[in-house]
Formats: sequence, structure tokens, C-alpha cells
Amino acid sequence: MKVQTNRLDRGFYKYQDELEAKALEVLRSGWYILGKEVSSFEEEFATYTGAKYCAGLASGLDALYLAIRALGIGKGDEVLVQGNTYIASVMGITMNDATPVFIEPDEYHSIDVTKLSAALTKNTKAVMVVHLYGEPAKMDEIVEFCKEHDLKLIEDCAQSHGACFNGKMTGTFGDVGCFSFYPSKNLGAFGDGGAIVTNDESLCKTIKMLRNYGSDVRYYFKEVGVNSRLDELQAGLLRVRLSHLDELTKEREEMAKRYLEGIKNPLIDLPKERENANCVWHQFVIRSKTRDDLMKYLSDKEISTIIHYPIPPHLSECYAYMGYKKGDFPIVEQFADEVLSLPFYTGMTQEEQDYVIDALNAYKA
Ligand SMILES: Cc1ncc(COP(=O)(O)O)c(C=O)c1O
Repeated sequence: MKVQTNRLDRGFYKYQDELEAKALEVLRSGWYILGKEVSSFEEEFATYTGAKYCAGLASGLDALYLAIRALGIGKGDEVLVQGNTYIASVMGITMNDATPVFIEPDEYHSIDVTKLSAALTKNTKAVMVVHLYGEPAKMDEIVEFCKEHDLKLIEDCAQSHGACFNGKMTGTFGDVGCFSFYPSKNLGAFGDGGAIVTNDESLCKTIKMLRNYGSDVRYYFKEVGVNSRLDELQAGLLRVRLSHLDELTKEREEMAKRYLEGIKNPLIDLPKERENANCVWHQFVIRSKTRDDLMKYLSDKEISTIIHYPIPPHLSECYAYMGYKKGDFPIVEQFADEVLSLPFYTGMTQEEQDYVIDALNAYKA
């Protein structure tokens, strides 16, 4: 049996009729940019998360970049961010000429709250939390820390649509929640897309102005903005998927349970769930000291896996100018060497999962 890391086609066919009907409706409407699909999606997504406002954008990276810009964070400012994240979290900071200050993660792959105080300087302006793999960070203590030190709180929710901590949705704990709708995300579009959610009306207005060349009145340009609009087609398709997001999340929870109960091998560490948090299992990430050997073993059995992420941002070529070296963030680097994302997607069959489980259980280094 061949098992791929993802099967986006299955996610489409699950709601094929509704998606095709919506695509045709938008195509026939004659209105493709900033129309009723985008405004309806913004309303529905804000309601879904429990935030007051939402702005649809062209990508998750743009959401981070524009959120940080609209919060007034820039040159000379420092943002505390976990070192084990996708490069876009960090690019959102550096595109604003601000400085990322990397923090080691805890055992749940999120920012380690106990390491924040030591990283504070007079230039610290914000904390960026990344709910990596769909697992919420320890939000109660992070919110308290930000309040105590008068810091902005930015949540990178690119992987955590619908995930909650203490029953509250990720993206609504701080000043702004930034989402990606890249096709493989839990709420995925059929191209690129992103959004911010916030309770701050003026922040949302600023971001809407910036996404449209810096204009909120036609042909009056307040600032040099960008073109970062979620388009009508993606917004329409996202509305269809959003209406099914809870059942999609439930399916992921059931698949995670099957892996968690089925995989039994001392060479493999399974992901742990944080107390009071609902993980939405964007990825199912195991850890192994023999990760590379395990990956090859699975590949020989036609099981594809992927590493999220093999090179941490502080060792990425694009950030060589920061002068970090191997050994600077041992836990981040250990995770980069040990993590492995198993095949995990909407429409994955029990037979496919069992094939992966049996292969993992038979693995010997
Ligand atoms: C944690 C994280 N942040 C930001 C992004 C950027 O999102 P996008 O690909 O929509 O720019 C992604 C996904 O790609 C991500 O996984």
C-alpha cells in the first residue's frame, strides 16, 4: 500500500457538490475582489473564533507581517518567539525590521513560558506565540506575562484553527490572531489565503487599509500598503469549509486517537496533549532519536513522511546575518533532528492508518 503525507484531493471530494456550486456562483457573479463572499467570510470567521473583527488577507505570512506593522512594531523593537517554528513566523517580524528573540520550546512544541523573563530587555515589545501542529500554547501564563510587562501578544494560528485553551479559541487571547488558509491547513483554501482576527476595531481597520495599497477611501492613499486581499473565490470556498470545520476537526481527533492508541514502539515518542487544551492535530508529529533511519524505513514501505521543520530559523541561510550557530538553541535543534510528521489528512482511511501503525510497530533501529 502507498500512503502519502497528504491527500488534498480527498478533502475536496468530501464536499465536492457544495464547493463546485459555490465556485460557479462566484464565477458567475462578475465580482471577484472584496465583495460579499469576503465580508461574509470575515463575519463568519470572527464569530467562529469568538473575536469581534476579522480581515481576510492573501496569506498567513501577510497576516503576520501586517499585524505586526499595524501594532507599530518596527526597527529597534524585539519580539519573543519560539525558535522551533515555520520561517514565516519569523519573517513576519523581520519584514518589519524588528528583531526576533528566539525562545526554546516546551515539551508540547510551544514557547516555554518559563524562559520568557530571562529574554526581556528594554526593547521587548511583543510575544509571538505559535500554536504549532495544532497544539495550543500555555495561554493563561503567557497572557499574564504580557500583561505584567505591558507587551503586545500576537498569536500565529496558521496551524490551530479551532484549537482552544481553557475553552477559549486560539487567536483571541492577545491583540491579534493570524491565520493561514494554505490548502493543507485545517481550514484550507484552494490557493493561498490568510486572515487576522482581533477585538480591536481600529487595528482591524488599519490592516484592511494596508491590505489595499494603504487605501480605505478609493484612490486616497494614506500609507504605502500592499496588495494582500483574500479573493472572492477563496472566501466563498472557505465559507463552505468553515461550515464543516467542526466535523473536520472531529475526524482529525479520531485519527489522532487511532495513532495514539495503536503506535507502540520504545523508539518512538508520541505527541502529548497539554492539560486544558484542545489540540486540533494539524500534524501528527512523533519524535525519534533515529528519525532519519525511521524515515527511510517508512519510505521503503511506500509511506511518505515529512519533517516540520528540518532547519530552524536561527540556522536558516536567510538569517545568517544574525550570527547564530549550531548549539545556540539545543532544544530547538533537538526537535529539528527528531520530529517526523506522519501521514495525516481528511479522508485518510483506517486501513491506511493501520498500515502506518503496523510499519511503525515493526520498526527496529
Ligand atoms: C506556523 C506558520 N506560520 C505562518 C505560516 C504562513 O502561512 P502562509 O503559507 O499562508 O503564508 C505557516 C504556513 O505556511 C505556518 O505553518
